Amino acid sequence: MSQNQILSASILSADFTQLASEIKAAEKAGSDWIHIDVMDGHFVPNLTMGPFIAAACRRATNIPLDVHLMIENPGNLLPAFVEAGADTISIHIETGADIPEAVNYIQAQGCRASIALNPDTPTQAVSELLPIVDQVLVMTVHPGYSGQKFISDTLPKITQIRKQLDEVNPEAQIEVDGGINQETIADALVAGAEIFVAASAIFKHPQGIAAGVHALRKQFAG
Ligand code: DX5
Ligand code: ZN
Repeated sequence: MSQNQILSASILSADFTQLASEIKAAEKAGSDWIHIDVMDGHFVPNLTMGPFIAAACRRATNIPLDVHLMIENPGNLLPAFVEAGADTISIHIETGADIPEAVNYIQAQGCRASIALNPDTPTQAVSELLPIVDQVLVMTVHPGYSGQKFISDTLPKITQIRKQLDEVNPEAQIEVDGGINQETIADALVAGAEIFVAASAIFKHPQGIAAGVHALRKQFAG
């Protein structure tokens, strides 16, 4: 198991009237990345943020920006997110987009390319793409909203994908997203995930952002 677990704070649960200071608080407390949930009201019912907000995040921090595209036709917006300063870009397999073309483009721009799959999408749907990606984003809730309950049926999928990656692309990392809290993070870690996205467990922690980050990072120690 890697010793380099990464915590990616999802601003979906941040207070947008104070976005820069919320990002800085997460960074200061030990969040490694900032996760940006892009939703278009079509691929998922919710409508959130676009390249303009990603560029604002870029001005607020120097830590990597982890852009999660939950949009139809993701290829159209890749240049805008690269320009905005994205470091990792995740595209959903369920969009039917030309994933190899998108992955090529993302990597040619010097970014990490990630393929995302929903809880109901089987592992086989991404098998052929595993050799070319830098990351696989395993959704542990149905995408669209923060604050949902972790779907533990996804745990065997994480282990299965880790096993396949070890054979064809051992450097690639698995990211988990949805319902990550101080209990579920340990399960996802044991299953084989290395990158952990959390929105409500960080930005809605009753004792504040730093306490949320510390509670999650504590699970990396053991
Ligand atoms: C859900 C988003 C997640 C979400 C996670 O569609 O992709 O990144 O912000 O929120 P929590 O951590 O509250 O489940
Ligand atoms: Zn996300």
